[in-house]
Amino acid sequence: MNFEDIILILFFTIFLTVSTTNEIPDEAETKTEFDFFLLDEFNKKQDLKTDKYEWTITKDPRYRGKWTIENSKNPSGVINDTGLVMKTEAALHGISKEFQTPFDPTSKGLIIQYELRYQEFVSCAGSYIKLLSQFDSQHFSRDNDYLIMFGPDWCGKQSNAVRFIYGLNDSGNDKEATATESKSGSEKLVQLEDPPEMKLDDLSHLYTLVIFPNQSWEIWVDLETVKQGSNLTKGFNGIEQKWINDPDDFEPEDWDENEYIEDPNAKTPQLWDTEQDGEWEAPRIENPDWEEWQPRKILNPNWNENQNGFAFQPIHGMGLELWSMGKNIMFDNILVTSADKINEVKLFANQTWGIKYHLQFQEQERKRLEEENKLWNRFISFSLSQAAKFTEFINDHPKIMIPAAAVFLILIFVVSFKIIFFSSSKTDSNANSNTNESQDKKNIKKVEGEEKEKGGGKENESEKEKEKEKEKEEEEEEEEVIEVNSNKND
Ligand SMILES: *[C@@H]1O[C@H](CO)[C@@H](O)[C@H](O)[C@H]1NC(C)=O
Ligand SMILES: *[C@@H]1O[C@H](CO)[C@@H](O)[C@H](O)[C@H]1NC(C)=O
Ligand SMILES: *[C@@H]1O[C@H](CO)[C@@H](O)[C@H](O)[C@H]1NC(C)=O
Ligand SMILES: *[C@@H]1O[C@H](CO)[C@@H](O)[C@H](O)[C@H]1NC(C)=O
Ligand SMILES: *[C@@H]1O[C@H](CO)[C@@H](O)[C@H](O)[C@H]1NC(C)=O
Repeated sequence: MNFEDIILILFFTIFLTVSTTNEIPDEAETKTEFDFFLLDEFNKKQDLKTDKYEWTITKDPRYRGKWTIENSKNPSGVINDTGLVMKTEAALHGISKEFQTPFDPTSKGLIIQYELRYQEFVSCAGSYIKLLSQFDSQHFSRDNDYLIMFGPDWCGKQSNAVRFIYGLNDSGNDKEATATESKSGSEKLVQLEDPPEMKLDDLSHLYTLVIFPNQSWEIWVDLETVKQGSNLTKGFNGIEQKWINDPDDFEPEDWDENEYIEDPNAKTPQLWDTEQDGEWEAPRIENPDWEEWQPRKILNPNWNENQNGFAFQPIHGMGLELWSMGKNIMFDNILVTSADKINEVKLFANQTWGIKYHLQFQEQERKRLEEENKLWNRFISFSLSQAAKFTEFINDHPKIMIPAAAVFLILIFVVSFKIIFFSSSKTDSNANSNTNESQDKKNIKKVEGEEKEKGGGKENESEKEKEKEKEKEEEEEEEEVIEVNSNKND
């Protein structure tokens, strides 16, 4: 071994040591100071039942779900990371917080952002936050009016959505009524029609809603914009549109409804034998007189130009008022601030959620690889013991030595071929982008499975088998993709 080799090996060893040392930061060390209207990091263990803490668990007897502030479960990413946790299965949970001074979004807009983590499998749960006008935190419940509701709402096939509901400023409709109503903030609620999907693995994810003072808005999931609009009057249920179909306009009775007609110029072919070939039918052509009928549009009598999107008004607090089938759902780093702080919010998210998620992901991958290695080791020792038995057998039966050896060689060849192709693709970095999706799929499948089991009965049996077949097919497809990828990498 020459000098250069030694240097190279030394260098490599140092590199390995440095890159595998896991310097996991403490939660408190991961960020600089930010000037937000409100930021709840839940980074001290506190007893939520004491009155000193600003969050208040509702006294409404319907809400029997427990709340705690506790450590995040593995993979936690950041050491001793703590958050607000919903503890009780199949229960309503209610907790809220009154702001010391109300937050007014009128001139600078609004951002609400928080981390959510389903630390274990959850089949169904609301996980959204409500921003409230004046309210009584001791008796906070679903009966309270709210100004905005934002966040994930998960229930298997029925709901996988990041909801966004807000109180419409409908003041132009009935000015006298509004004068009295505006105090309570009980405007008409409207809901985003086509909400984005939430993330369903068991790591931390970040949900953000931004409303600018000019009513343009954005929803981010994990810092990526997944939905946005230039104003709050388009794409929401329950907002009267300016032009509607005239309900008094009917299709004329002599309206030609047929889009296609028989070709009037077509003639029965001379050689057509009705007995053998059946009745002759003329080819169909487009009807030249056809036109799609559309009702007349009229100005909507319920529409008014003063549907001005979000009714900006002071926000007095926020609350979590949620039904959950699962337990240990964690909320963390809840922040409320104005939309002019958008860059700070991004930076803060990068320094908190960004680091945390990255570490959680690494931790999860490491565990997965460890599991795989364990399986692999078991496979090797099993093969060795089988090989030993085989050798013994051959020794006792010398006549079949040569054909047996040939079969053995072919087997080894096939097995190593498979192993080389599959093991290389599993450890490559492509796994990164795929993991989330396959995890999502798993969760969804789990829920579907549960629903089926609940349904019970034998009719489901064949369906289950069909599903299994489908899964197998999907798996085979995935394998193909992996092979193609690994070929590319070669
Ligand atoms: C994490 O919390 C445990 C228990 O409270 C404590 O013993 C430990 O020192 C903490 N670790 C760090 C890095 O703060
Ligand atoms: C509304 O304000 C945002 C932020 O200042 C800006 O990016 C956007 O272009 C504005 N939209 C309109 C329609 O003016
Ligand atoms: C909102 O946007 C739609 C189209 O994007 C536009 O037709 C409508 O006039 C806008 N409304 C307001 C109040 O700006
Ligand atoms: C509602 O819209 C009107 C304009 O039509 C505006 O004057 C008023 O300030 C708005 N109210 C709120 C609460 O945003
Ligand atoms: C955080 O910022 C760093 C440096 O600007 C960037 O490389 C990284 O992708 C960001 N992380 C997230 C989650 O946005």
